[in-house]
Amino acid sequence: MRIYLIGYMGSGKSTVGKNLASCLGFQFLDLDHHFEERYRISILDFFDKYDENLFRSMERDLLHETGEFDDVLISTGGGTACFFDNMKFIREHGIAIYIRWPAGMLAERLQNLRKKRPILKDLDPESLPEKISEQLAEREFFYGQADIIIDAGAFSPQQLTEILLKKIADFTDRG
Ligand code: S3P
Repeated sequence: MRIYLIGYMGSGKSTVGKNLASCLGFQFLDLDHHFEERYRISILDFFDKYDENLFRSMERDLLHETGEFDDVLISTGGGTACFFDNMKFIREHGIAIYIRWPAGMLAERLQNLRKKRPILKDLDPESLPEKISEQLAEREFFYGQADIIIDAGAFSPQQLTEILLKKIADFTDRG
């Protein structure tokens, strides 16, 4: 079985992903780290040196490699689900879980974390909420196709993990 976590930057995909993977006895794979290790460059530097289009096509190739892995939980980058037919690929090769947050809460969470995100790093703090809510509105079309959607705002990472374990069990029982 393969599980893909999707959602906007700062939604806690890596934290929840690691917890979930360890509870399920799955391997954890962070697609961004995988990219950085494979190509020996940080995503921040990659965007500086090359461009987003090249990043997206290399990201798609890495995503396609995950179709060969088993018993793995893959934490995707915030944009992974939203380019090419990646969302279709994800749904055909595993269970997609969208960790959903309201734009305002993401903006708060990303105020201090934005410097590591090439897409947000040059924005001034005042324009962050608007940029996030615009981009989230565009991306919802893709994220919303997930098999499981969880509204994360009210829960601790521990609670989220427990809720998701239950939802995954329900989902696989149904299939
Ligand atoms: C991106 C999100 C990042 C990373 C890249 C682009 C995006 O991943 O893949 O900076 O377009 O939302 P995280 O969601 O892990 O920050």
